[in-house]
Amino acid sequence: MAKQEDKFKKVISHAKEYGFVFQSSEIYDGLSAVYDYAQNGVELKKNIREYWWKAMVQMNENIVGLDAAIFMHPKTWKASGHVDAFNDPLIDNKDSKKRYRADVLIEDYVAKYDTKIEKEVKKAAKRFGDSFDKEQFLATNPRVLQYKEKGNAILQRMGQSLEKEDLEDVKALIEELEIGCPLSGSKNWTEVKQFNLMFGTKLGASADTAMDLYLRPETAQGIFVNFLNVQKTGRMKIPFGIAQTGKAFRNEIVARQFIFRMREFEQMEMQFFVKPGTQKEWYEAWKVNRLKWHMSLGMGADNYRFHDHEKMAHYADAASDIEFKFPFGFKELEGIHSRTDFDLKAHESASGKKLQYFDHEENKNYVPYVVETSIGLDRMFLAVFSNSLQEEELENGTTRTVLKLPSVLAPYKAAIFPLVKKDGLPEVARKIMEELKWDFNVMYDEKDAVGRRYRRQDALGTPFCITVDHDTLKDDCVTIRHRDTMEQQRVKITELAAIIKEEVDARNWLQKM
Ligand code: GAP
Repeated sequence: MAKQEDKFKKVISHAKEYGFVFQSSEIYDGLSAVYDYAQNGVELKKNIREYWWKAMVQMNENIVGLDAAIFMHPKTWKASGHVDAFNDPLIDNKDSKKRYRADVLIEDYVAKYDTKIEKEVKKAAKRFGDSFDKEQFLATNPRVLQYKEKGNAILQRMGQSLEKEDLEDVKALIEELEIGCPLSGSKNWTEVKQFNLMFGTKLGASADTAMDLYLRPETAQGIFVNFLNVQKTGRMKIPFGIAQTGKAFRNEIVARQFIFRMREFEQMEMQFFVKPGTQKEWYEAWKVNRLKWHMSLGMGADNYRFHDHEKMAHYADAASDIEFKFPFGFKELEGIHSRTDFDLKAHESASGKKLQYFDHEENKNYVPYVVETSIGLDRMFLAVFSNSLQEEELENGTTRTVLKLPSVLAPYKAAIFPLVKKDGLPEVARKIMEELKWDFNVMYDEKDAVGRRYRRQDALGTPFCITVDHDTLKDDCVTIRHRDTMEQQRVKITELAAIIKEEVDARNWLQKM
């Protein structure tokens, strides 16, 4: 546990020290659970967004994009159910005066069984060596099965109680499991209460005419209310999807864990409109597709798992999370939801406008069903960043900190150095930069010894360093150093663009899907 916390602290401090993420309004002591992306963070975030957009919109003929406004008519949120049902169950500890999400306290308790299972796996792997079959062990070991059963039973009971709004039973469960306040250990709890997560604001200048608005808590509703506009103007045929990325806002009560749970964050969502009755197939297909997208980044199959929901959001008939192994354990990274026709029907009846599709093959109108994929961009940033940050022991006994980002996502693709700041080397280095910058985000650096410049780029995750030396003036060749292997090659200046492209081109990464 201490090791995990240590790693997480390193992630947060590296993000700050190397210009990726800053606390918002830091000079005023910060604003809790709100963060700013700095000069390198904004590039990484943009690259993740583009990698998603390429895979979801540009590579799929039947998915188009949208950029709906953050402000929406307040009736939207009544119809969507968010005014009445977008709540978190909260509980206060009477001694420490700290407030928690009751479901998170229970989920954290259950996560301890996962840790125990991991320990059993490690022990068995050691005992059986090469002949160890992890899948079989997980499916048959009595102790593992017992842990799984206990965890599932707790989650099932919690899910059912939340579904029925039986908050007394949620409190009873916390007491039965003897869950203490994570800060003080006290088990002196208040009742569990529901708390709405939407931020309110006002539209208009004068108090009597101003209209109460909400900041959107998900981007999805902008897609639903535009469903027919896009379908008609784009002549879209079912099944088809509408995707968008953008800010969402939630008044999260338990806002900790850095950019994992923020009050202002960005989502990348896609609503896929399908014929009623086919939603189950599409739900399964999108689960597979989204996992493949994650896998294409090569961050390790063992770091992902599905978690099928017991407790569904108010709009869903099936839901699953893709969980990622963050430094603080497996947590939700992306949700795949079968949203039925809940949203479109709700907007039809609240607006009085038909939101139906005419199916020429079936020769009839219907309200389509929807399968949604929804991923938090900031959470994806944290997954990529924390998984990439590594400390390596080198052969000469020193260590290096290296951010082994998937190079398609790296903020800078190459850094160009003159070996020394004289003899015409800076001019040649700048000329190379001027040429490469048309195709790649590249950086020029002439400060400090080359070894230190390499370390700086390792810490930023730059896949290539290119050094111009005195021989370059004679042979038009440079030294290119690879971040992960630290291998150096002598290559022609004219070959640089092709070498970089081969490594960072989204095509080569997405083709792994
Ligand atoms: N439209 C469906 C929806 O919003 P959700 O499971 O509430 O579903 C989807 O959110 C994704 O948005 C999550 O899987 C997570 O990655 C991200 N997310 C949700 N709340 C967040 C928060 N407070 N901070 C950062 N990311 C968040």
